[in-house]
Amino acid sequence: MKIELFTMRYYHEIIDLWKRTGIEISSSDTRDEIARILKRNPDLFLIGKENEKVIAVVMGAFDGRRGYVHHLAIDPDYQKKKYGKMMMDELIEKFQIKKVHKVHLFIEKNNKEVVDFYRKLGWEVRDDLIMMSFVPDKRLYKRDIEI
Ligand SMILES: CC(C)(COP(=O)(O)OP(=O)(O)OC[C@H]1O[C@@H](n2cnc3c(N)ncnc32)[C@H](O)[C@@H]1OP(=O)(O)O)[C@@H](O)C(=O)NCCC(=O)NCCS
Repeated sequence: MKIELFTMRYYHEIIDLWKRTGIEISSSDTRDEIARILKRNPDLFLIGKENEKVIAVVMGAFDGRRGYVHHLAIDPDYQKKKYGKMMMDELIEKFQIKKVHKVHLFIEKNNKEVVDFYRKLGWEVRDDLIMMSFVPDKRLYKRDIEI
C-alpha cells in the first residue's frame, strides 16, 4: 500500500470507503466540509492506495493544542494486513513533526472491538473523562445523511 496526502479528487472514493466500512456519514462529510478540514490540515489527511484504488483513509486534525483522528477506515477486502497500523504510524509521525503533545480519538460504543486495535498501537482508554458535545447551530449538523 502506498500512503499519500488526500486531495479532493478522491472525495467520492473516501465516502464510498466510509460507507462500506460502516462509518456514519454526517453533515460534516459533505464536499464543502471535507474541503474545509483538508484546508486546515492538508498534511494530516491521508489515503492509502493499492493499484491506484483507494483502500485506506484517515483524517488527522490539529487545533493548535490537541491532535484528533477521525474516520480511519480500511477497505474490508484489505483488513488485517497491518494497513490500519501503517496509516496510524504515518499519521503519528506527522503529529510528532508538529510537536503535538496529545492526540484524541472517539470510538462509538457499538464499535467497541476497535478498542483492541488501538490498544495494540499504544493508545489508552480514558475513564477519567466524560465526553460532552454541543451543536451551535441545529440547522447545520445532521447525522446519517445521504451523499
Ligand atoms: C479498525 C481498522 C481500521 C483496523 O484496520 P486493519 O488494517 O484491519 O488492522 P491491522 O491489520 O493494521 O491490525 C493491527 C493489529 O490490530 C489487530 N486488530 C485489527 N482489527 C482488530 C479488531 N477489530 N479487534 C481486535 N484486534 C484488531 C490486528 O489483529 C493486529 O494485531 P497484531 O499486530 O497482533 O497482528 C479496520 O478494521 C476498519 O477499517 N474498521 C472499520 C472502520 C472503523 O471502525 N474505523 C475505526 C473508527 S474509530
